[in-house]
Amino acid sequence: MDGAPVASTRETIEIGLKVIAPTVASGVVKRRRAPMALAERLQTDRAAVRLLSRLRDRHGPGPLRLRVPGRSIAVVLSPAHVGRLLEGTPEPFTPDNAEKHAALGKFRPHGVLVSRGAATAERGQFWKRHSHEAVLQTHRPLHHLAPALLPVLHEEVDRLTAVADRSGELDWRRLERSWQRTVRRLVFGGAADRELIEALVSLRRSGNWSYLGRRRSRARAALAVRLRAAIDGAGPGTLGEAVRGQGADASVRPEDQVAHWLFAFDAAGIAIARTLALLAVHPGHRLAALNELATEDPDEPAELPFLRACALESLRLWPTTPMLLRDGTEPTRWGGGSLPGGTAFLVYTPLFHRDPARRYADRFAPEIWVDGTAEEDPALVPFGGGPARCPGRNLVLFSVTSALARLLREREWRLSSPSPIFTGRPVPATLDHFGLAFRPAPARHPLLGGSAHTSAAFG
Ligand code: HEM
Repeated sequence: MDGAPVASTRETIEIGLKVIAPTVASGVVKRRRAPMALAERLQTDRAAVRLLSRLRDRHGPGPLRLRVPGRSIAVVLSPAHVGRLLEGTPEPFTPDNAEKHAALGKFRPHGVLVSRGAATAERGQFWKRHSHEAVLQTHRPLHHLAPALLPVLHEEVDRLTAVADRSGELDWRRLERSWQRTVRRLVFGGAADRELIEALVSLRRSGNWSYLGRRRSRARAALAVRLRAAIDGAGPGTLGEAVRGQGADASVRPEDQVAHWLFAFDAAGIAIARTLALLAVHPGHRLAALNELATEDPDEPAELPFLRACALESLRLWPTTPMLLRDGTEPTRWGGGSLPGGTAFLVYTPLFHRDPARRYADRFAPEIWVDGTAEEDPALVPFGGGPARCPGRNLVLFSVTSALARLLREREWRLSSPSPIFTGRPVPATLDHFGLAFRPAPARHPLLGGSAHTSAAFG
């Protein structure tokens, strides 16, 4: 290393305690309930953003190297550097970062995100990426399977609404269970049982421990067998069927790629809950969303740009991938200094998404996703950026907005949990999705009636 700014030992410890520890404790692969509740109480993201902003003022744009024995680690502090890092994937910045590999390898050792470097060609990084893009139809706002997926989303949301009506509340536990079943049906139709998902969740919990967890090779092999069987049996109009249609050979390990999808769909469930909370306390935006819905046929897949922007905004405010990691595959120059090959680069996205210098930092501002503001900013990256940007983005946004659309058409969802999100106040830095709960009330909009099925609960 020469000329790159280095944090003092005290600053390094502070970053460890205020930025890395809360993120890791909340569960990087499978979120943990109690640490998330504590993080919300302490508003840990606020303290992390303040600390990194202060260090940027003190040390300049960085990247700021940490004083850690045995590993070169640098924290990215400038939006332009975020852009450079993500655009420079997979060479000279591989997404197959060592810590991420240890965590995600627990349940999908051959996933595209942990394929790397010299192995780029050998292990088919591009081929894998290509097959993800082909099946997920990355570049189409509406997947060609959308007409088959929409009725599944509607059926499951109606079931969930009926449960909420009966119990008087929609809480995270019910929403999560319903969303897991929805995802299982979107991916496999009826061909996957709950045990498959439970086996995956158990391995993901081990992934939270990265290097420290047990290897669990036998459980992983058993999961791979189950996943292959579920892909083989996936029904018509499902993503699993589309995977089969790719005719991928075994070296691509379709079961590992699908394991990643099942894991990643969790974040979509979190986005649904948080967007619903945002709309519950922003009545003007809720009305705008309802006005948009009133112009669409509910039984036809639709892009719903405003509702999409609301979902994207929930992911800006509370990114579900708060740390983007890259390992340098060679020495790299940054301003006046350089960093050695093998350096781990850490992008803590809330630093940029909630930078107090941005006028919309702590405000619910869906307009930034439609007026070009977000697009022009290399550091607003809830779905990552560059060649490894989430290939499921459009499919996710379709699933999330379709589920939200159905929920909003049927009921007005009032926040019933003591979550720290209020009308007319800045949006909290940390929001525990486990703690969210809503009370259903009759939907009120001149152009939107609730469906006969679910409105019955209100007579
Ligand atoms: C709200 C939901 C989601 C969010 C916020 C999200 C976010 C992200 C982010 C930030 C990355 C890049 C990670 C990095 O650069 O290190 C990523 C990668 C990826 N995502 Fe998503 N994702 C979501 C859901 C999904 C879903 C549902 C799928 C599949 C159906 C999916 C498939 C992938 C794949 C395959 C990659 C790896 C791409 C590569 O390495 O080339 N994601 N996602």
